[in-house]
Amino acid sequence: MFEHPDYQGHEKVFFGHDPESGLRAVIAIHNSVRGPGLGGLRMRDYGTEHEALGDVLRLSRGMSYKNAMAGLPHGGGKAVILGDPTRLRTPALMRAMGRLVDSLGGRYITAQDSGIRVEDLRQLAETTAYVTGLRASYGADGEERTGDPSPATAVGVFHGIRACLEVVFGSDDPAGRSVAIQGLGSVGFRLAEALHAAGARLLVADIDAMRARRAADLFGAEVLPAASIHTAEVDVFAPCALGGAIDGETIQGLRTRVVAGAANNQLARPEFGTALHNAGILYAPDYVINAGGVIDVAAQLGDYRPEQVDARVVAIAGTLKTIFHEAAASGIQPEQVADRLAEQRMHRPDMKKADPETGSA
Ligand code: NAI
Repeated sequence: MFEHPDYQGHEKVFFGHDPESGLRAVIAIHNSVRGPGLGGLRMRDYGTEHEALGDVLRLSRGMSYKNAMAGLPHGGGKAVILGDPTRLRTPALMRAMGRLVDSLGGRYITAQDSGIRVEDLRQLAETTAYVTGLRASYGADGEERTGDPSPATAVGVFHGIRACLEVVFGSDDPAGRSVAIQGLGSVGFRLAEALHAAGARLLVADIDAMRARRAADLFGAEVLPAASIHTAEVDVFAPCALGGAIDGETIQGLRTRVVAGAANNQLARPEFGTALHNAGILYAPDYVINAGGVIDVAAQLGDYRPEQVDARVVAIAGTLKTIFHEAAASGIQPEQVADRLAEQRMHRPDMKKADPETGSA
């Protein structure tokens, strides 16, 4: 366990087993200096237990960085259930998971992640109060959006892109700017909608042809093949599909000034950040620009006020500008500046109560 390559810096790891429901789960808390670990619950048919452990450790560490940079009073935590959700998902399993979360007495607060639906979370909430993401969320216009962090994520990415435009072109106005969006799912489609409303020209791609067609019809977007969207000559390339969009091969093809999108882990390897930097492309660190969803979910733990959530999501632009200015002044890359700032914040106990930048407490 302690030798695991992804264990670095973790505070606690809990293993849970409930023979009756078949639950096999791991909860990892990376850092709780700022407050209880907050991060989603994922359910997946992992090939091996080692793989599941690696996933939960990497994800919980990532949440420490994301929560710290979003100014949230939370540390990083994450949980995984081992097993195929389509076969093993039962109310009893979710209630057993709730009991495991509850046994930690609030050190870890869970939420939705891949493989977990809102109704699963509701069953989990029968046995613990340490769960969030069940209320009608930011931008919600009905029950169907309950628990969906995507609207807030899309708004954060939109404002993050504006911050990038300001740094590169001297104006944050998207009007007349071109943006290539890779992936038109829950976040990408809403981002397209917002950019179109702001006057941007869109180029889009999705492996689901229907989604791309819809963006063409609604937003006048030009549809490109999924395999080559990254080569479009644009002002901004926005990866909103899967992780690892920026690798050695895609970098060769990029003809953009900015990479800024919602996807997690956009750099397939850290050195690709250096390659972007050397190519004169501004990169918005993924966990900073895509924090809108966790900001929304964290707000649901308290007295939820949409205008406050909005202000915090919009503040992502300010955080990015701070990072870009510091990167330019010190000659290091934005993602390295972000990591350094996040590490400072996650080790400063005074940040636990209130964050001067965002006012979150
Ligand atoms: P989603 O699953 O709703 O959408 C992903 C879209 O990408 C789908 O339409 C899919 O067909 C498309 N796609 C998959 N592979 C593709 C490819 N090779 N080329 C073009 N399109 C492709 O996911 P969602 O929720 O929109 O999230 C997008 C990304 O943002 C993911 O990486 C996710 O982890 C990340 N993210 C999402 C947050 C949220 O609030 N939903 C929060 C933070 C990060």
